[in-house]
Amino acid sequence: MALTTTMIGKTVLITGGTGGIGRAVAVDLASMGARVGITGRDRARAEQAASTIALESGNSAVDVFVADLSSQAEVRRLAGEVLAVYPRLDVLVNNVGGFWAHRRVTTDGLEHTIALNHLAPFLLTNLLLERLITSAPARIVTVSSGAHSMGRIDFDDLMGEQDYSGERAYNQSKLANVMFTYELARRLEGTGVTATALHPGMTNTAFSAEDPSRKMAPIVFVVRPFMRSPKKGADTAVYLASSREMDRVTGRYFVNRKSKKSEESSYHAETTDRLWQVSADLVGIPADTAATRAKASS
Ligand SMILES: NC(=O)c1ccc[n+]([C@@H]2O[C@H](COP(=O)([O-])OP(=O)(O)OC[C@H]3O[C@@H](n4cnc5c(N)ncnc54)[C@H](OP(=O)(O)O)[C@@H]3O)[C@@H](O)[C@H]2O)c1
Repeated sequence: MALTTTMIGKTVLITGGTGGIGRAVAVDLASMGARVGITGRDRARAEQAASTIALESGNSAVDVFVADLSSQAEVRRLAGEVLAVYPRLDVLVNNVGGFWAHRRVTTDGLEHTIALNHLAPFLLTNLLLERLITSAPARIVTVSSGAHSMGRIDFDDLMGEQDYSGERAYNQSKLANVMFTYELARRLEGTGVTATALHPGMTNTAFSAEDPSRKMAPIVFVVRPFMRSPKKGADTAVYLASSREMDRVTGRYFVNRKSKKSEESSYHAETTDRLWQVSADLVGIPADTAATRAKASS
């Protein structure tokens, strides 16, 4: 897909657009003519990122939204601001994610990895769903990881209270991204809104740099020469967000622009539905919002 694909007239929101893969997605989609909203936790850093994205893409339509997505109140405020500013939303790219070797708890009292990597995109997507549906055809693209294949949803200890390992929490959250996508696709059938997930490939970013233990640092040091550039890491997300070939393609997981089979358990409809219900409880929304009611009850 050349960058000649046009996104003129489309509005895209990318979480975590100030660095890494999200920023590279923003540059490419803005280069195609989209109005792009990026999110970050610090206004000055986000505005600086927005001006460099505008410069690199030649498109000044880059908006900044400030929110720490580990807090549900901040996710709700972000959604409110996006709804106030964007009368239409054509693409949502759920990109933010992180790794913590030692268990941490968010302001909501939830384990940080599942809160940031899964519950934040779950809540944000649900709060923006009506706007995406009224903008259809629209797309929801969620950045998961190949690590999802080592994941298991531990419903008895989702928050890692009994036993925590950073790897297990990360793998679980990335499996949750894939399951969320499949369940979302099922619930959005017939709305014209698609949901896809992807593995970006090992990409040279600041990923895991905020983990105080720096547990990943020696591994990253060794594999860095083999890692992709952020632009290459962004490629599949950009493809899913913009390519005409992806019109109407939904409920699939992609690697290097190709649809791939994900971990077997991700296809268990009972488990994806259960994860949806549990997640809805944890973020305090009804499991069957108006947007998803028809399919959930059919
Ligand atoms: N890099 C890889 O090799 C790799 C491989 C597989 C999957 N992935 C997935 O790709 C996604 C992007 O990763 P990346 O490598 O680009 O990571 P990254 O470089 O660490 O991403 C940084 C972005 O995330 C934002 N962010 C971090 N914590 C946040 C929070 N609490 N609230 C709001 N925004 C926050 C940062 O914004 P500010 O700092 O400006 O707030 C920044 O824009 C993740 O979901 C990751 O799991 C990455």
